[in-house]
Amino acid sequence: MRAQLVPTENKPGTFRNEREIRSPDQAARVPDANQFASMLPTDGVFNRSTVLKVAETVLAACFLVAMAHPAMADHKLSSGESDTREIERGRYLVKTSGCNDCHTAGYAAAGGKIPESQWLLGDTLGWRGPWGTTYPANLRLFMHSLTQDHWVQFSKSFQSRPPMPWWLLHDMNRPDREALYAYVRWLGPAGGPAPSFVPPDQEPVGAVVRFPAPPNK
Ligand code: HEC
Repeated sequence: MRAQLVPTENKPGTFRNEREIRSPDQAARVPDANQFASMLPTDGVFNRSTVLKVAETVLAACFLVAMAHPAMADHKLSSGESDTREIERGRYLVKTSGCNDCHTAGYAAAGGKIPESQWLLGDTLGWRGPWGTTYPANLRLFMHSLTQDHWVQFSKSFQSRPPMPWWLLHDMNRPDREALYAYVRWLGPAGGPAPSFVPPDQEPVGAVVRFPAPPNK
């Protein structure tokens, strides 16, 4: 709409570029009907400066209307709204696909009653099985270290040790993986890194959940 206010032809009474349109401040001084009438020549002939003045005033008024047009406000609102919706979607996915069960200390034992500020900080409770002992990563630090593009690639292809259900992320569609990223980034980086992986032949320090060996062993 703003672009349409700027005529391209360089003829008298038109404007070559946007800078020639009055600022909102100047536009605030749009004359009332009487002032407007007084601008019109009495001899019935429009001279160049009058045409210019009238055109400027009309353009300034249009510009002001354009700036205040509700569609522009709507546009701002909707991009903010879509961010909020993506974060909401991410929260929903985290809650319903079980990330908290392992990546949030005490979550499963507390029946999910852990404040959101403590979500996804990783856990020192180890998961021990034939693969060794693994610790759910601090996803807030992890996501903080990646760009969205890296995450989109990574989450589509990575494999990690049990009991991380990595295949679940491969099957998640891209908008959902992006929403997950947006949400975890929104939570913000906090906490420290989870303990390092302990190979099968070494004893882990601290509490572990012990998996039985697979039936064929
Ligand atoms: C059953 C427990 C469990 C669940 C459920 C789970 N994770 Fe994990 N996750 C782990 C463990 C344990 C690791 C560490 C694996 C390793 O050391 O190889 C891990 C690792 C990861 C990693 C790799 C981090 C890195 O540093 O490489 C990502 C990313 C991840 N999980 C995301 C998720 C997301 C997102 C969800 C929910 C959709 C989820 N996890 C659900 C246990 C789980």
